[in-house]
Amino acid sequence: MAPDAGHCGRIWRIDAPLHKFVREFFVTPPDTNPAETDPATETLTVALGTRAYPIHVGRGLLARAAELIVPKLARPRIYIVTDSHVAPLYLQPLVTQLKAAGVRCDHTIVPAGEASKDIGPLAQVLNAMIAARCERSTTVVALGGGVIGDLAGFAASILLRGVPFIQIPTTLLSQVDSSVGGKTGINMPAGKNLIGTFYQPKLVLADTDTLQTLPRRELLAGYAEVAKYGLIDDADFWAWLEQNASGVLGGGEASHALLRRCILTSCRAKARVVADDEREAGARALLNLGHTFGHALEAETGYGAELLHGEGVAIGMVLAFDLSARLGLCPPEDAARVREHLRSVGLPVRPPRAGRFGPITPKRLIDHMGQDKKVKDGAVQFILARGIGKAFITADVPMAKVEETLAAAQAS
Ligand SMILES: NC(=O)c1ccc[n+]([C@@H]2O[C@H](COP(=O)([O-])OP(=O)(O)OC[C@H]3O[C@@H](n4cnc5c(N)ncnc54)[C@H](O)[C@@H]3O)[C@@H](O)[C@H]2O)c1
Ligand SMILES: [Zn+2]
Repeated sequence: MAPDAGHCGRIWRIDAPLHKFVREFFVTPPDTNPAETDPATETLTVALGTRAYPIHVGRGLLARAAELIVPKLARPRIYIVTDSHVAPLYLQPLVTQLKAAGVRCDHTIVPAGEASKDIGPLAQVLNAMIAARCERSTTVVALGGGVIGDLAGFAASILLRGVPFIQIPTTLLSQVDSSVGGKTGINMPAGKNLIGTFYQPKLVLADTDTLQTLPRRELLAGYAEVAKYGLIDDADFWAWLEQNASGVLGGGEASHALLRRCILTSCRAKARVVADDEREAGARALLNLGHTFGHALEAETGYGAELLHGEGVAIGMVLAFDLSARLGLCPPEDAARVREHLRSVGLPVRPPRAGRFGPITPKRLIDHMGQDKKVKDGAVQFILARGIGKAFITADVPMAKVEETLAAAQAS
C-alpha cells in the first residue's frame, strides 16, 4: 500500500482480496495532525477485486461531484434518491452539475425520517425507477442520511437484479457507519432492518460541508457512534476526542479537518472489526457496544424523535461501562470518564424514566434485551469493557447486576 497523489487529496490505495481487505485496510499510515497537513480531502480505496471502491472524505466533494461521479458511470445516466430535508439543500446543485456534464438525471424525494425505510416507500421508489425506464447501466445515487442509504441501496440491489450504486451520505452517522460494510435494508412490522442485502457501492462521497446544515442533535447522535470506536479498542482516539470534541462539533472552518479525522478513523476501525467476521458471528458484535441497552431504550421510546439511535447508544455505552465497573471488571474512573465526556458534549447519559408505553422500568428493558437479535442460545450478549479501549463480548452477566445498573442510572 502506498500513498499516491491524485486529484482528490491524499489517496491510500489498498490492493488485497476481499477477505483480506480489512486487515490491509487497517494498515494505513498513522494519522497525522490534520490541522497541520490539511489536504481538503483524503481517500480510502476499498479493494474488493473488481468491486473496489473509493471512500472520499473531506470538504468540497459535493461541489466536485460530477468530476468524481462521471468516471464511475457505465452510461451517462443516474437516478437520485433523496429525502424531503436534503432535497432543498443539495439536490439541485448536484443535478445541475451532472446535467452540465451530459448525464441524464431523474430523482425521487421520499419523506424525511425512518418511516421511509419501509416496504411501501421501497415499492414507490422501485416503481418510479421502472417508470423512468431505468436500465441495468443506470446508476442509483443515495443522497441523504442512513435512511436514504439503506433504502436506495436496497432498491439498487434488487432493481433489474442489481444496478450500480453510489452513496453520498449527508449525516455524520451515515458517513461513519454506512460507508463500510455494505449493508442495505428496510424495516418490517416485526422489527428494524429485517429485510435487506449486502451490496457494495461503486463510490462514497462523505462531504463534511454537508454536516454544516445538519441539526446539532443529529450531529451529536453521529458523534456517539464515533466515540464508540474509541471505547472499543482505541484509547488514544478516545483521549483525542476528549481534547478535541468542541472543535469537532463546533462547526465552521476549523471543524472540517477534525471531522475528517473522525470519519476516517471510524471507517478504518469499522473495517478492522468487520475483518474476519462479515456475518456478525463473533468479533463484529463489538460494534454493538452500547447497542444492547440502546436498542431496548429505542423500543420503549418508539424508534423516533423522542430518542435518536445515537442518543440510545450514548446512554447504552454509559450503562455498559457502569455495569462493567459494578462487576469489578473496569476501573470506576474509566466509567466516570465515559459518562462525563458524553454528558459534556450534550448527549443524554441517563435512561429516560418514561416512554411511549408508560414508565420505563428495568424489567421492561431487560425483557427487550431478551428479544434482541444479539441473543444467542437464550443468553443476552453484552459488550462490556475492562477499561476505555478494552471492550469484549460476554454472555456471562448476572441479570440482577443489569437490573441494579439500570435502576441506579434512572435514580441518578
Ligand atoms: N447500512 C448501515 O450499515 C447502517 C449503519 C448505521 C445506521 N444505518 C441506518 O441509518 C438510519 C439512521 O441514519 P441517520 O441518523 O443518518 O438518519 P436519517 O437518514 O433519518 O437522517 C437524520 C435526519 O437528518 C436529515 N438530514 C440528513 N442530512 C442532512 C443534512 N446534511 N442537513 C440537514 N438535514 C439532514 C434527514 O432528513 C433526517 O431528518 C437508520 O435507519 C439505521 O438503521 C445503517
Ligand atoms: Zn448504531
